[in-house]
Amino acid sequence: MKPVNIGILGLGTVGGGTVNVLKRNAEEISRRAGRKIIVTRASARTLDRERICDTRDIALTTDPFEIVNDPEINVVLELIGGDTLAKDLVLQAIENGKHVVTANKALIALHGNEIFKCASEKGVMVLFEAAVAGGIPIIKAIREGLAGNQIEWLAGIINGTGNFILTEMRDKGRDFADVLAEAQALGYAEADPTFDVEGIDAAHKLTILASIAFGIPLQFEKAYTEGITGITREDVEYAEELGYRIKHLGIARKTDKGIELRVHPTLIPERRLIANVDGVMNAVLVKGDAVGPTLYYGAGAGAEPTASAVVADVVDVVRAMTSDPENRVPHLAFQADALVDIPLLSADDIETAYYLRLTVEDKPGVLADIARILATHQISIEALIQKEPKQHETLLPLILLTQRTQEKEMNAAISEIEALSSVTGSISRIRLETLK
Ligand code: HSE
Repeated sequence: MKPVNIGILGLGTVGGGTVNVLKRNAEEISRRAGRKIIVTRASARTLDRERICDTRDIALTTDPFEIVNDPEINVVLELIGGDTLAKDLVLQAIENGKHVVTANKALIALHGNEIFKCASEKGVMVLFEAAVAGGIPIIKAIREGLAGNQIEWLAGIINGTGNFILTEMRDKGRDFADVLAEAQALGYAEADPTFDVEGIDAAHKLTILASIAFGIPLQFEKAYTEGITGITREDVEYAEELGYRIKHLGIARKTDKGIELRVHPTLIPERRLIANVDGVMNAVLVKGDAVGPTLYYGAGAGAEPTASAVVADVVDVVRAMTSDPENRVPHLAFQADALVDIPLLSADDIETAYYLRLTVEDKPGVLADIARILATHQISIEALIQKEPKQHETLLPLILLTQRTQEKEMNAAISEIEALSSVTGSISRIRLETLK
């Protein structure tokens, strides 16, 4: 059978890693796919740069449109990132009847509904395993492996850079900026690293996971997103004292009222496996009604882990190229005409437990005032640490853990507590999930 010709858009970390894996494992890969897979063309912004891969057998160009318009190319790998040029290229490739594999979470989270519609009309596949959690086959696991379940919730560490920063800060007391610079040098961080530390990258990935878990259209704009820049060393230490770790989690949960879609720093019990996922590693915990909790763990970023997912998608495309489009696995796991519009809940309607850190005056009645306000909002206190004031100091830190409540009740309680004359400054609030 004729080999399948691949055109790669972008020869950076992921593109270079993909070329290397396709070459090194060519024989095994073609034994799996049933055909030879050859990278014939690739585009890059500049041609004279040093690369992590050997490009001697590949025709290079600086114009990616040459590749998507080349009739000899069967499958396009979109590995340039971003959601403007990448979108034009992917839509053009689809228009030309080519299958597409992408690692681009922003593209899928923001424009996936439109892209999949065009792809279905043209009878081509758009696969995106590498867009979520790097090398972990989480899309395939949820879309296919858990197809018999109602997914109740999922929670994941889905940004390697953020997890690397939190881990290094906790273990080595390193500086935020210093660890971020290292993540950038290692090729983990996004082109705009605020996407990593502000949770935008994780929200892109969570949007995709929620769609394939619950059969809903992609709705990135409805995700609640909070970054890790406000986490202090004190919070990390108090959390540990109480038996918790702070992780930057993406959480999607189906409730009676709708679906929660949220990314924020979260205290989780230190005995949970996911609390011990460190460095650039990712993990996703998925709770299905039949299977119970399942955990997927692996490298969430980097050249070859991401290439592993890209190449798996290429093999899937090659195997399915001759199949009837109606009988392929649907892009978002559920048949396109069976997606449902379950409401996505606003931040006010999220239900979770909380860690609160306050600075209070050392005088009688302070704790009673705080407890009274929480009680008025039906918020129950679960644990409390009060530190002794240092010598000659009249202010002391007070740390509270609460039971689950609605975010709007907590917002109201925090405003009232901050207004007490005995409470100084603003309250640090970190959400807490037991992930039972
Ligand atoms: N910047 C991303 C991360 C890359 O750190 O997880 C992988 O999507």
